[in-house]
Amino acid sequence: MAVMTLTRSTIGKKVIMAVTGAVWVGFLAFHMYGNLKVFQGADYFNEYSEGLRHIGSPIFSAYHLLWVARIVLIVAVLSHVWAAVSLAQAARKARPEQYAQKKNIHASYAAVTIRYGGLAIFFFLLYHLAHFTWGVRAIHPDFIPGNAYHNLVIGFQNPLNVILYLIALVAVGLHLYHGTWSMFQTLGFNNQKYDSSLRGLALALGLLIPLGFATAPLSVLFGFVTL
Ligand code: HEM
Repeated sequence: MAVMTLTRSTIGKKVIMAVTGAVWVGFLAFHMYGNLKVFQGADYFNEYSEGLRHIGSPIFSAYHLLWVARIVLIVAVLSHVWAAVSLAQAARKARPEQYAQKKNIHASYAAVTIRYGGLAIFFFLLYHLAHFTWGVRAIHPDFIPGNAYHNLVIGFQNPLNVILYLIALVAVGLHLYHGTWSMFQTLGFNNQKYDSSLRGLALALGLLIPLGFATAPLSVLFGFVTL
């Protein structure tokens, strides 16, 4: 059966990683672009954030399509982690003895970056949701439900948050770069002729998304975006 093969074979798991990763890349591109609306002022930004809750209206009621998107993202991230752990276990089984001296060069450097970076992004995501979506008091001292602009500005007036987000964005950039590159390999685009353009594409994604995201926290910190 197709689904069984997808979840049991190495290539199937890699396809799961690529597809679920692409879902998140799409979300990140959309989220980063949406965040840039912070430069258009409080009303515009809050209207946009409110619009997301009513996305698909009047056909869909408030939150319905948003929840569909949330469920797709949750299923995607869980499948991505499951396939990653499963592939790593299979790789370990294929080499029962540890390396006498493991040299973290090239491929293994990327693997290490992507594993620990992925774990860091997962924990960042929980922090981020607590910070801006759930409004946990211990993390966000002045959270006002429905006022995304206020929450964002107050959040990034604390330099520690800016530092934390910037570190997370470096992890996101490296993950996007290595992840996209290994996806191209899986899909068989490892033709010498295209190698440099594909690397360029992976690099562009790994740079543009984090840089776009970084503009909001830095602009708040340096006083360009205020309440
Ligand atoms: C500087 C970077 C970022 C900023 C300023 C930012 C800002 C925000 C804000 C303000 C919200 C709440 C929107 C609302 O409830 O109205 C939000 C939600 C969210 N963000 Fe971010 N974000 C950033 C980076 C990221 C990254 C890197 C990820 C993923 C790895 C991410 C994933 C999410 C998710 C999943 C939600 C919840 C959406 C929902 O279910 O309602 N964000 N973000």
